[in-house]
Amino acid sequence: MSKKREVYFITGGCGFIGSNFIHYLFELHGQNVFVINYDKLTYAGNPENLKSVEERENYRFYKGDICDQELVERIFNQYQPDYVINFAAESHVDRSIGNPEDFIRTDTLGVFYLLEASRKHQIKRFIQISTDEVYGSIQEGKFTEESGLFPSSPYSAGKAGGDRLAYSYYVTYNLPVIVTRASNNYGPYQYPEKLISLFVTNALDDKSLPIYGDGKNVRDWLFVKDHCSAVEFILRNGNDGEIYNVGGNCEKENLEITREILKATGKEESLIKWVKDRAGHDRRYALDDNKLVSLGWNREYTFEQGMAETVKWYTENRKWWEPLKSGEYLEYYKSHYGEEL
Ligand code: NAD
Ligand code: DAU
Repeated sequence: MSKKREVYFITGGCGFIGSNFIHYLFELHGQNVFVINYDKLTYAGNPENLKSVEERENYRFYKGDICDQELVERIFNQYQPDYVINFAAESHVDRSIGNPEDFIRTDTLGVFYLLEASRKHQIKRFIQISTDEVYGSIQEGKFTEESGLFPSSPYSAGKAGGDRLAYSYYVTYNLPVIVTRASNNYGPYQYPEKLISLFVTNALDDKSLPIYGDGKNVRDWLFVKDHCSAVEFILRNGNDGEIYNVGGNCEKENLEITREILKATGKEESLIKWVKDRAGHDRRYALDDNKLVSLGWNREYTFEQGMAETVKWYTENRKWWEPLKSGEYLEYYKSHYGEEL
């Protein structure tokens, strides 16, 4: 392996955003990068997402836990990564309500082990992929990077732990850390448990779309490919110790999104099912990402383009998501929604 190529150590690369990011990197840099994908392969990690790149000479996959300090160190020693990008996380709010421990372990403690390995090596940049959920809920206006952190679920509290721990390594050890806080992503390869991926796949199968509470909670929707371009842009152009919000500039109530999904899949409103609200359900997220935009990054996708690409992808890739909706998934679905899928 030629050391001239920049080496990326990417965690959680078999998940939704991580796998989109690896595809994006190869499209952008081709042979000029060397990518290590380190992933525990939890229920949300799917090697199928990277089938088309697994034979590449400049790609390696390691199955491992970010909390496995020894294995992380061994891989760092072998490859001497230039960049560490931590996508690995337990990421689903609903699951964090039933089983918080894994979230604290991976989303806070796991970040600690990666930071420790990174400070022993001459890495050029450590990007901690955080989330807008660390800010909590906002009734009016938008969160800036200066806003206070009021995470309200075990997931977002665990992410806030990792977010601030990463910052502390910049202040204390001069580790070149940057923290990103993105809004709700949607797009190809998203495990069918999140609002858009679940509702699109359920609609395609004429199954009900379970809306929590009154359906008026608001999220800011970001197409995953725009998130990927933002992360790479920040890696190259961001400043150490900084936080960058990455928004979609696209606020929508859940009911509105649901209706758009029904329209895009050609299904009737009768599929809507009103269900019990999520415990501690954040009412609204809204991000001000002017800091990143003034640095020169721009979104490429409108919501209409992103949704059209997403619905097309799930329609054409049943082979990807149908096997996921089986076994443990069906048990989770029944215990969570109170009915069979
Ligand atoms: P995901 O659940 O689809 O993927 C997470 C990946 O991390 C999986 O491949 C899983 O196997 C892996 N993983 C989990 N625990 C691990 C561990 N202990 N060690 C190694 N690998 C582990 O998540 P996603 O939606 O792709 O989110 C990626 C990152 O982006 C997360 O850090 C999440 O907090 C953040 N984020 C997500 C969104 C969103 O809307 N999905 C928005 C903002 C930020
Ligand atoms: O904002 C960024 C965050 O977005 C990420 O950090 C998280 O990893 C990601 O999971 C996502 O969290 P949310 O809780 O906002 O996403 P989710 O898709 O679970 O829910 C979006 C909205 O839809 C929320 O108001 C809850 C609602 N919802 C969700 C599901 C799964 C429903 O009404 N019904 C559902 O079945």
